[in-house]
Amino acid sequence: MLLPSADIARRARQEGWAVGAFNAVNMESIQAILGAAEQERSPVILQITQTTLSYTEPEDLYAIALSAAKRITVPLAIHLDHGRTFEVAMRFIRMGATSVMIDGSLQPDGKTPRTYDENVAITRDVVRAAHAVGVSVEGELGLLGQVAAGESTGLTDPEQAARFVAETGVDLLAVSIGTAHGLYRGTPHIAHDRLREIAARVQIPLVMHGGTGVPDPDVRQAVTEGIGKVNIDTQMRVAFFEACSAQIRLAEAQFAKADAEGGVRKYDIRSLLKPARAAMQEAVANRMRVFASSGKA
Ligand code: G3H
Ligand code: ZN
Repeated sequence: MLLPSADIARRARQEGWAVGAFNAVNMESIQAILGAAEQERSPVILQITQTTLSYTEPEDLYAIALSAAKRITVPLAIHLDHGRTFEVAMRFIRMGATSVMIDGSLQPDGKTPRTYDENVAITRDVVRAAHAVGVSVEGELGLLGQVAAGESTGLTDPEQAARFVAETGVDLLAVSIGTAHGLYRGTPHIAHDRLREIAARVQIPLVMHGGTGVPDPDVRQAVTEGIGKVNIDTQMRVAFFEACSAQIRLAEAQFAKADAEGGVRKYDIRSLLKPARAAMQEAVANRMRVFASSGKA
């Protein structure tokens, strides 16, 4: 069942759970995400981030996802993550994505902040085009990942968030509440007070980016406070790397034995990727249980 991600996340926020949005970069990660969703009977968002354009054609990934999706019996959205330009958002809509994120908080370089007015302007343009073809849109407000522990500069401003939603018509809003992309040094400080203040003024589902490494109790609390979608990427990458390196160590031992015995080395790419796919699937399933989306399909 392919749906816009807002349809899934809206229901999640109303019912007090969150839908996991997991980043896919290859066939194995797509299979891991969809496999976990089936295993957990969980709605799911499979997302492809704009930076994937430097690795492969997103249309190819989309074709694999769509083929696998034909066997999927749980609600599924295919989403553009951190789109930075109108053109990229349109490319994903044309490809068949059911939702897109326009990250108007930063310029296309991914570093320089856009002003509030610039953010509104680009987000509004994407919303207008996306809504015309039934695609939902996630916007972003605040300096995500650039807030030091305990600081409030860069956190999403609640009044501005309400204004941003009214002015742009976005369906989901990514908020800056102390999370950051990638691994944390130490434990992140989640600004729950700020999240509650935003949620009191904004009725659409709020999105937590940088979900990897946020302690489970903080995630569970944030879900009761208005987070309807949680993004996870790094946790899958860690699972992939750990499984691959364990398999490479195993293969090297087998090669040494074959060399010593005058045998022949056997190279099989699948011997690395199959355990890596299983490890990613388990990482995704584990998050679905924490988000309480398991069993909600
Ligand atoms: O947009 C993707 C994410 O926000 C993922 O963050 O890599 O820290 O899990 P993460
Ligand atoms: Zn993100």
